[in-house]
Amino acid sequence: MAFVVAEPCIKCKYTDCVEVCPVDCFHEGPNFLVIDPDECIDCTLCEPECPVTAIFREEELPDKWEHYTELNAELSQDWPVITEQKDPPPDADEWADVEEKYDQLER
Ligand code: SF4
Ligand code: F3S
Repeated sequence: MAFVVAEPCIKCKYTDCVEVCPVDCFHEGPNFLVIDPDECIDCTLCEPECPVTAIFREEELPDKWEHYTELNAELSQDWPVITEQKDPPPDADEWADVEEKYDQLER
């Protein structure tokens, strides 16, 4: 099991989560972060840090975001590790309450 980043992160990417991860398992894409399931040690530290509640324990992932488990596993193989918090995109707050934004995901 591992923690999974789901849809609320898309175009928000606040990166608070990155600061607390003890094993550097976050990987960064253009407008989304993912967790490498092979590196995550289920420490739970990142989950409460996300301002838009994008991070879930795999077994608690809402059904509508089930595909994010596979997406995290896949994209973490392609994207570089991120270990330090950075400024979010300038329009992050505008996307924070948008529920459906999978079509905005850039790879
Ligand atoms: Fe990192 Fe812990 Fe979050 Fe896994 S649960 S991604 S190890 S902070
Ligand atoms: Fe994304 Fe939340 Fe981390 S928006 S970058 S999962 S703090």
